[in-house]
Amino acid sequence: MSSSEQLLAGKVAVVTGGGRGIGREVALAMAAQGASVVVNDVGAALSGAAEEVRPADEVVAEIQAAGGQAVASTDSVAQWDSAQRIVQTAVDTFGRVDILVNNAGILRDNIFHKMQPEEFEAVIQVHLLGGFYMSRAAAEHFRRQEGGSYVHMTSTAGLIGNVGQANYMAAKMGIVGLSRALSQDLQRFNIRSNCIAPFADTRMTRSVVVKEALREARDKRISAWRPQGIAELSVALCSDACKDISGQIFGARGGEVFVFSQPRPVRSVHKDGGWTAEGLSKVLPKFQSVYAPVSEIVMTWDSIE
Ligand SMILES: NC(=O)c1ccc[n+]([C@@H]2O[C@H](COP(=O)([O-])OP(=O)(O)OC[C@H]3O[C@@H](n4cnc5c(N)ncnc54)[C@H](O)[C@@H]3O)[C@@H](O)[C@H]2O)c1
Repeated sequence: MSSSEQLLAGKVAVVTGGGRGIGREVALAMAAQGASVVVNDVGAALSGAAEEVRPADEVVAEIQAAGGQAVASTDSVAQWDSAQRIVQTAVDTFGRVDILVNNAGILRDNIFHKMQPEEFEAVIQVHLLGGFYMSRAAAEHFRRQEGGSYVHMTSTAGLIGNVGQANYMAAKMGIVGLSRALSQDLQRFNIRSNCIAPFADTRMTRSVVVKEALREARDKRISAWRPQGIAELSVALCSDACKDISGQIFGARGGEVFVFSQPRPVRSVHKDGGWTAEGLSKVLPKFQSVYAPVSEIVMTWDSIE
């Protein structure tokens, strides 16, 4: 592909959690489309625990072997100072930053009534606070350059629901709010922000607890969800061709790409002078047909005590 045909020619991208799974594919795809890439990954276990591995280095080597430009970063997204260093790596190495993909993530699943404060806090720290720290660090440069594009990985676990993931659901819905805020606050500087709810066969998806009887069917289903599909969508969203798309939530699953609706009122009732609790207690049960179901429970914990 000549550089004039590359969708991200001349752009600089930071991909967090870029050493494995979806992030790895995003980093490879962005580099193949001409971006210089900061591949950021702490090399954590799925729980976030430290491990003696540096997957970011391997992805950088792959990009360079294919003729692309990349640099590794092993700082964590989950602290303000280290997030600043990740973005600074892009500026120091490549002179600018045009794209931030907030993808780094961990899981600490537990049924809600057993969830420990540290399990809740750890997941919020990486996904939501990390998303803020990284976005804030990039915003300074995007603003100065008068342009930039954010992609944040949310999840249908947040948008729709999942058992045993209160921490992750809260974080992933928080990211949707963060993305919407960025799209509104920064629109005036030609900066845009979108979310993707991925479906991909990674260690994260395979770790989600399902009933024994459903496991084989689940594994077969997710094996069709290639993470490359999410990478292609990320590249497209960050290309100039999609410069007018912001504040949206996309999904990607196998060969399918979809746009999610966003909450708007679906029914209203008005009463002059305002409602009393007694009045509402009679009216609200009549709206059953418009209430969202508590959730289709896609994955189920084996035993909930
Ligand atoms: N796989 C899916 O189907 C799916 C579904 C919904 C959402 N997501 C989201 O997509 C993103 C990627 O998930 P994945 O399935 O590729 O997971 P993964 O576990 O394969 O990759 C996540 C990467 O993030 C890195 N990481 C963790 N904490 C970090 C930190 N503090 N700083 C920097 N890097 C850190 C890990 O080392 C790992 O390499 C996550 O945000 C996840 O919540 C994935």
